[in-house]
Amino acid sequence: MKKIPYGRQNIDQSDIDAVVSTLQSDYLTQGPKVKEFETKFAEYVGAKYAVAVNNATAGLHLSVLALNLSKGDRVITTPITFAASANCIRYTGAEVWFADIDPNTYLLDIDSVKELIESKPKGYFKGIIPVDFAGLPVNMEKFRVLADTHKLWIIEDACHAPGGYFIDTKAEKNFCGNGKYSDIGVFSFHPVKHIACGEGGMLTTNSKELYNKLILRRTHGITKDNMLENQGGWYYEMIELGFNYRLTDFQSALGITQLVKNKKGVERRNEISSAYKKAFEGKIKFQALPTGSYNAHHLFIIEVDKRKELYDFLHSQGVLVQIHYIPVHTFPYYKNIGYSGADLSNAEKYYSKCISLPIYPTLSNEEQNFIIEQVYRFTNG
Ligand SMILES: Cc1ncc(COP(=O)(O)O)c(C=O)c1O
Repeated sequence: MKKIPYGRQNIDQSDIDAVVSTLQSDYLTQGPKVKEFETKFAEYVGAKYAVAVNNATAGLHLSVLALNLSKGDRVITTPITFAASANCIRYTGAEVWFADIDPNTYLLDIDSVKELIESKPKGYFKGIIPVDFAGLPVNMEKFRVLADTHKLWIIEDACHAPGGYFIDTKAEKNFCGNGKYSDIGVFSFHPVKHIACGEGGMLTTNSKELYNKLILRRTHGITKDNMLENQGGWYYEMIELGFNYRLTDFQSALGITQLVKNKKGVERRNEISSAYKKAFEGKIKFQALPTGSYNAHHLFIIEVDKRKELYDFLHSQGVLVQIHYIPVHTFPYYKNIGYSGADLSNAEKYYSKCISLPIYPTLSNEEQNFIIEQVYRFTNG
């Protein structure tokens, strides 16, 4: 039986040629491809600056440090995300506070965030990390208004959403991570995501100051900027405690050819999503699409009552559906720490029913028809 995964990379000859050609060049890391990938990615999402990193988790870590997060601070995020969105807060010793999700879009609910902020004294929280979950853009304009009212920063976890956008009140298109309303955008290039680098990530921002901080800590906190004339060409200084969070040149070469295909890939993902919606409309609940939003569709999620039974049945038919996600606040690690303020019942209810169906550019119509048939075979049967 042919197995159909829930997500899959799309590697063609152009990707292979690009990687091979970089492997044959003088640079395996920190060569021209890193800069080229950064420039092209920034242009693609409409941000001023981009910083390539070795994965999005490292990128989230650099982001919270650039925004001066430290022990004892508090940041709000969604429980329906991959653990990394919350873990980056903990890396600094700061506290993670979860707010609830909207039951229809599955995105962090701004009203729940507002309620949480207003239930605490002024200055209690430092920032918010909304996630463009499943590829659906968060309305960052609304979050910016709330954040400005309470002097908070925003990191947009756009790992699921390169190519997704929402239209703001000025009728302008805002691609996820364009930095118009958020301080830093974070993308992942893990193979199940839109752009596959093996491992990899990108940070985007419109702030030169944040860009400089991200670049500095990506490479050990080392700079040559303070060189004096007579110090010699080898001279550098370490002025911050940084890391090695660099992306290699051959991964960047792959990222560039992957990026070229992303627009078409997102269009194909939307075609697949439309076919699922047509098949399920009025019968099975799926993620809502707010007016003016374009979902990049990393995932296509439905809600069903007998979720475990459907999961087991589809796996038995070779359809390798997945669950996104176990609510992060229910993990033993977070339960043991126990910061909580908000009612998270929407997130918990969502988790009891959600299941992600296969969606990726090379999924064929025949495979999709088979998946839909199997879902109905189970639900009708
Ligand atoms: C929403 C979200 N944030 C962050 C990450 C971390 O990405 P990476 O695997 O590149 O570190 C992921 C990866 O699954 C993710 O889905």
